[in-house]
Amino acid sequence: MGRKSIDELVRADEGLISRSIFVDDEIFQQELQRVFSRAWLFVGHESLVPNPDDYFVSRMGTESVILTRDRQGQIQVMLNSCAHRGMKLCRYDHGNNRTFTCPYHGWSFSTDGKLVERPGELVGVPGHATHYKGELDKKQWGLKTVAQVVNYKGAVWATWDPDAPPFLDYLGNMRLYLDAALDHRDGSAGGSEVIGGVQKWRVKCNWKFAPENFIGDLYHDISHRSVDIVGIGPGGGRGRRDPSATRSAICFPELGHGLLGRLPFYEEGPYAPQYARYPEVEAYYREVHERRERTLGSAMRVQTSVGTIFPNMSFHGRQPRTLAVFHPISPTEMEMWRMYLVDKDAPEAVKEAARHYFLRYSGPGGMTESDDMENWTGATEASMGTMSRELYFNYQMGVGHAEPVPEIPGCAVNGEYTEENARIYYRRWAQFMNGLSWDELMAGAARAQEKAA
Ligand code: FES
Ligand code: FE
Repeated sequence: MGRKSIDELVRADEGLISRSIFVDDEIFQQELQRVFSRAWLFVGHESLVPNPDDYFVSRMGTESVILTRDRQGQIQVMLNSCAHRGMKLCRYDHGNNRTFTCPYHGWSFSTDGKLVERPGELVGVPGHATHYKGELDKKQWGLKTVAQVVNYKGAVWATWDPDAPPFLDYLGNMRLYLDAALDHRDGSAGGSEVIGGVQKWRVKCNWKFAPENFIGDLYHDISHRSVDIVGIGPGGGRGRRDPSATRSAICFPELGHGLLGRLPFYEEGPYAPQYARYPEVEAYYREVHERRERTLGSAMRVQTSVGTIFPNMSFHGRQPRTLAVFHPISPTEMEMWRMYLVDKDAPEAVKEAARHYFLRYSGPGGMTESDDMENWTGATEASMGTMSRELYFNYQMGVGHAEPVPEIPGCAVNGEYTEENARIYYRRWAQFMNGLSWDELMAGAARAQEKAA
């Protein structure tokens, strides 16, 4: 049976996406190579490794990587696999280590800039003088490090591709909205931190369902009816979800990123209504918000509800803020991670309220996330059959109705309910899967900037 081409599987202009891209093993292997080994990937937050020698074990695609802060304070990301016979070096989720010693035959690797020329260099080999007769060139056998790593407002991003464009070009004007999630205050404030650790759990679904949902699927709100009714959602018990925030589906078609949020220059409504019953917390957010208005002015007044950075990172940008990443495990399984962000210098009461909110709202036991997990799992399972995988999913809502946003080059908007954001996501996915060069991948974004200038 002939295999369909990527362009036959992803007919984004018509709103048709083949179910097979969510269940097929060959496609999955191809996306690890063509998407995950090239794109900029979110690997963690700097507050997970606050001190020199701290490490946090993360993932890039299906591979385990070590995110560490070296003795010079620099963030490093390297493959968590010994150069000798591949053993996993770090078998804990996080810790503090100056050198990483392999449990199999004892090779050790260091990030200490005083000892080594490059992070992850091989520094110790048992029997180097005797068994290897001093002939093993240690400089050649360090850990594989990522080609580029960036700490952007505390969020750490990395790519295996030395030719990938700078992270900020990859992000484009989506930056405005990611900023709101990473540090919703003015730049002079004290930054954010992850509280309560990283929640990690596995879901029997294709990994793409999650970023697609976060890129702007307001339509699925019907799934979260129970959350609205009990009043634990952002609407603060006022029935409909967050009635104060009329959102738009905003996207960056040339880059594959998108969100539900507000364009700049909107009028601010009540802030963080879900905290109305905690006066101290509400007062804090009001104060932070007013300061932001004073220092940044209306030009920076964007608001994010939820958004996705292509390919597998999503966030809640409005208070309370969360970062999520969806790691592929197999075509029909992902590992979902969620981190909760608060202002580092916020009073304890604010952090405590955020922690409680997160626990009941998000995460594996949270009321909204469990609704979503059930949908994604069911859709994956019901698309695995020989009949069902031949069908296409329908993404036809709002085809042809996206409007450019003159104030933000590269940006398009299409009211609240649309599947435009999902379409631009899969169009981007198809470009990566078709193996386009970075020049080709970034040409549209460059044209959009030029047109605006
Ligand atoms: Fe690590 Fe042999 S596998 S030292
Ligand atoms: Fe949802």
